[in-house]
Amino acid sequence: MIAILGTGKMGEALLSGLVRAGLPPNEIMATARREDRAAALRESYGVRVVSNAEAAKAAETIILAVKPQDMGTLLAEIAPYVPADRLVITVAAGITTAFVESRLGEAVPVVRVMSNTPVLVDEAMSVISPGAHAGERHLERTEALLKPVGKVLRIPESQQDAATALSGSGPAYFFYLVEAMVDAGILLGMPRAAALDMVTQSIVGAAIMLRDSGEHPVILREAVTSPGGTTIAAIAELERHKVRAAFLDAIEAARDRSRQLASG
Ligand SMILES: NC(=O)c1ccc[n+]([C@@H]2O[C@H](COP(=O)([O-])OP(=O)(O)OC[C@H]3O[C@@H](n4cnc5c(N)ncnc54)[C@H](OP(=O)(O)O)[C@@H]3O)[C@@H](O)[C@H]2O)c1
Repeated sequence: MIAILGTGKMGEALLSGLVRAGLPPNEIMATARREDRAAALRESYGVRVVSNAEAAKAAETIILAVKPQDMGTLLAEIAPYVPADRLVITVAAGITTAFVESRLGEAVPVVRVMSNTPVLVDEAMSVISPGAHAGERHLERTEALLKPVGKVLRIPESQQDAATALSGSGPAYFFYLVEAMVDAGILLGMPRAAALDMVTQSIVGAAIMLRDSGEHPVILREAVTSPGGTTIAAIAELERHKVRAAFLDAIEAARDRSRQLASG
């Protein structure tokens, strides 16, 4: 039995991924704070929506999907019902495995996950880190749960803030880039809808080439950068405006902000 505690946007994305992956709804429990939310989850997925205590007692795997600021309250509520033979998975940004472990009062295996919004289209990047009591089989169980909704990578917990900056926030940088390129299309007199189509399909095509060819991005870029051609004219401007340096600084700032938020 798997329980998702605090089934909001992230929890529902995981829930629907598990159901699509073929897990029978009667092996999943969900919890919600509001009755209308509980009713909607029952109706959409056919899962049992129960109290946090009931879910914690019954499930071998407990996924904590509340907002970081609600985590303390939730852990206090379930701590009496979580013995050391359970697996607790936390998906809350900035909540450390040590924080969860210290509030459970037993040597419970905890795995920390940072995912991102493409979880909604089964293309998430999820990075996972084991806590003090989590071993290989706990990581494997976590991977099995997350694979239906995207790619999973193991990283040391010390790199979670960096991963938050890179892949957690990552989709936002691409949306920002798309906005900027669509503006450029409009500047060149292109209708907005056509510009958006061209940019979106370019980013999808480039992403699939990157993922499926296994080629280094430099090789792929060089293939469309002929000597004295149009692409190099654009790249020269990007270099002149220090876009690469801006990305280094931006992602470093996101990492620092993630650290700051995690330390309260
Ligand atoms: N959204 C993402 O793409 C994303 C990506 C990476 C990580 N995360 C992480 O995922 C977590 C959830 O984010 P979210 O965007 O899914 O937030 P969300 O939509 O607000 O989901 C949290 C849900 O938990 C419910 N809840 C709060 N306290 C509860 C309690 N004690 N018992 C039962 N249910 C409770 C909330 O109820 P109410 O509706 O009544 O508030 C809400 O439905 C966060 O910690 C975030 O850091 C999210």
